[in-house]
Amino acid sequence: MRKSPRYSFDPGSFSDLDALSEASQYVSYLEHTASRLRDLSRARYELLNLSPGDQVLDLGCGLGEDSRELVSFVAPRGKVIGVDSSAAMIRQARQRSRKFGRAVRFVVGDAHGLQFPDATFAACWSERVLQHVADPALAIREMVRVTKPGGRIVLFEPDHSTLAIDAADRTTTRSIVLTLADSIRSSWIGRALFGLLKANSLHDVTIIPTPLVSYSLTNTNKLLRLDATAKAAVRRGLISAEDSRQWFADLRRRQAEGRFFGCLLCFTAVGVKTSKVRPTR
Ligand SMILES: C[S@@+](CC[C@H](N)C(=O)[O-])C[C@H]1O[C@@H](n2cnc3c(N)ncnc32)[C@H](O)[C@@H]1O
Repeated sequence: MRKSPRYSFDPGSFSDLDALSEASQYVSYLEHTASRLRDLSRARYELLNLSPGDQVLDLGCGLGEDSRELVSFVAPRGKVIGVDSSAAMIRQARQRSRKFGRAVRFVVGDAHGLQFPDATFAACWSERVLQHVADPALAIREMVRVTKPGGRIVLFEPDHSTLAIDAADRTTTRSIVLTLADSIRSSWIGRALFGLLKANSLHDVTIIPTPLVSYSLTNTNKLLRLDATAKAAVRRGLISAEDSRQWFADLRRRQAEGRFFGCLLCFTAVGVKTSKVRPTR
C-alpha cells in the first residue's frame, strides 16, 4: 500500500491531541472528513429543533465546522459554544471563526466535567467525539445536565466493528476490522447510544443509521487508515506481513477494476430531556 502523503497518524489519538508534538495532520484529516460529511451533518442540524436566540453546545467541536454552521439557526441573538479538550483545536476553531463575532465562542473543556451550570443550553450537539472519550456514559450525563428541560441532544458516532469490506481473504479482513475497532478508545459507542440515552431518561429517543458507503480504497484508507491498521494487526500477530501485502493487492485490484466496496455504519441518536413535570394539586 502506498503511504498517503497527508496522513500518517493513528485515528485513536483524537483522545488526547495536545499530547502530540504536532496536530497539523489531524487538522488536515478533519478538513478532509468535514468536506466528505458536510451534507450529512447539514441534514441533521434540523434535529436540534433550534430557534433564534437559543444557546447551543457543540461538544468536541474540533475545528468548529459545525459550530459555524449552527450559528445561522440561532442568529441574531443566539450563541454557539464550541468545547474541545484540545487547546490546539480551540485555537484553530477561533482563527477560522473571526467573522462570526460573538455569535460563536470556543473554550477548552472536558466532556467528562463540563464547566457550565445545569440547564444552560437549549440543545447539545456532538459529532464523532464520544468514540474518543474514556467514559461516554459520563459525557452523555454531562450533556443532559447542561441541557434545558425539553431540549434535544443530537449525537453522531460511527461503530468501527461494523466496517464491511469485500475482500477475498475473510480471515485477514476480520483481523484488520478488529484491530481498527480496538484502536479507538470507545469504538462500541455507535450501537450503545440508544441504551445510554434511555438510561438518562431522555424521551423520544430515535436512532438513525447512516451507512457510509465507499467505492474507493483510496478514500476508505484516508478515512480509516487501513494501512496503519494492517501494520498494527501484523504487530499484534493477528496476520502476517504477507497476508497484509496480499490483502492490499486484492483491494487495489478491485479498485482498479471498479469493484471495491466498503461500508461503515454510523448512528445519529436524538433524545429529548424530560421537562419538569408540574406537581398536580
Ligand atoms: C474526530 S474529532 C471531531 C471534531 C468535530 N466534532 C467534527 O465533527 O469535525 C474529535 C474531537 O473530540 C475532541 N475530544 C476528544 N476527547 C475529548 C474530551 N474528553 N472532551 C472534549 N473533547 C474531546 C478531540 O480533541 C477532537 O477535536
